[in-house]
Amino acid sequence: DWTPASFIESTVVELKEKLGDDKVILALSGGVDSSVTAVLLNKAIGKNLTCIFVDHGLLRKNEFENVLRDYEHLGLNVIGVNAKDKFYRELAGVTEPEKKRKIIGKGFIDVFDEEAHKLKDIKWLGQGTIYPDVIESLSITGTTIKSHHNVGGLPAKMNLKLVEPLRLLFKDEVRRVGIELGMQEHLIKRHPFPGPGLGIRILGDITPEKVRILQEADDIYMSLMREWGLYDKIWQAGAILLPIQSVGVMGDERTYENTVALRAVTSSDAMTADWAHLPYEFLAKVSNEIINKVKGVNRVVYDISSKPPATIEWE
Ligand code: XMP
Repeated sequence: DWTPASFIESTVVELKEKLGDDKVILALSGGVDSSVTAVLLNKAIGKNLTCIFVDHGLLRKNEFENVLRDYEHLGLNVIGVNAKDKFYRELAGVTEPEKKRKIIGKGFIDVFDEEAHKLKDIKWLGQGTIYPDVIESLSITGTTIKSHHNVGGLPAKMNLKLVEPLRLLFKDEVRRVGIELGMQEHLIKRHPFPGPGLGIRILGDITPEKVRILQEADDIYMSLMREWGLYDKIWQAGAILLPIQSVGVMGDERTYENTVALRAVTSSDAMTADWAHLPYEFLAKVSNEIINKVKGVNRVVYDISSKPPATIEWE
C-alpha cells in the first residue's frame, strides 16, 4: 500500500543509488511541488543539492523574502537571485500572453543558467514535475493549450540529466509527503501559483507600477481569505488586473481608474474547476478594502466562470 512514509523511504534509497556523489541543481518556485522535491533530494544527497530561487519581480507581495526564509529554515542550500529589472525590461510593451510566457520562461532559463555555470560539476537537474504535468504535456491532440513554463529546454542546453522524484504523484499525495517530511503547513497548503506569476494576471503589458497595484490588491484578498478561514477550502485564488479603466466617484471628484477582478476556484487537479461560492460578506469586505487602500483601483469584480470553458487564469 502507498503511504507517504513508504514513498519517502523507497524514494530516498532510489535517489541515493541513482545520484551517488553527483551534484544536482534545482529551481525553487515557492510552490509545493518544487519545495517537496528539494526536501526529498536534500534528505537523499544533502549538500550535493543546490537550489536556485529567482525573483522575476512577478511574485506576490513579500513572497520572495518570506519563502527564502522558509527554505533556509528547512536547511536547504539555496541561492536567491533578484532579477526583477531584467524581466521588467524584457517585458516592457509586450501584451500577447504566450509571448509574455516565452519571455518569462526564457529569462528564467538565462538566470538559472548563469547561476548554474558558477557551480562546478553539476550533472542533474531536479524538477518538481507531478503526474498531471506529465499527462498534460503528453497532449493527446498534439496542441498545447498554454505553454506551461517549467524549465523545459534547460537540460539539453546544459547537458543535464533529469531527476523528477514526484513524477507519479498527484497533488494531494505530494502534500502528504511534505507533511511527513516535517515541512511547515503554510508551505504545504499553499495554493498553486503559475510560474509566470503576476505576469499573466496583469492583462496586457506589464509595468512595475501595475505590479505594485496588483500585489497590494492580491495581498489584501489573500490575507482576508486566511483571516476568514476560507483559504484551505479553495484550490486557488488570486487577483487579476484588467486593462480597463472605468468611471468612479470619490468625494466631489470623478475618477477614471483600474478594475481588479477576483478569482477563486475549487478543483481537485486544475483540469476542471468551479468558481468558488464565496460569502457575499467576504466579497464586500475585500472589495471595500481594495478600493479604499489601493491607489489606482476604483472597481472590483468577481469572476463567476467555471473551467471549462473558461480557464483558471485569464491569460
Ligand atoms: P488554466 O489557466 O490553464 O490553469 O486553467 C491551470 C493551472 O495551471 C496554472 N498555470 C500555469 N502554471 N505556468 C505554470 O507554471 C503557466 O504558464 C501556467 N498557466 C496556468 C494555473 O495557475 C492553474 O493552477
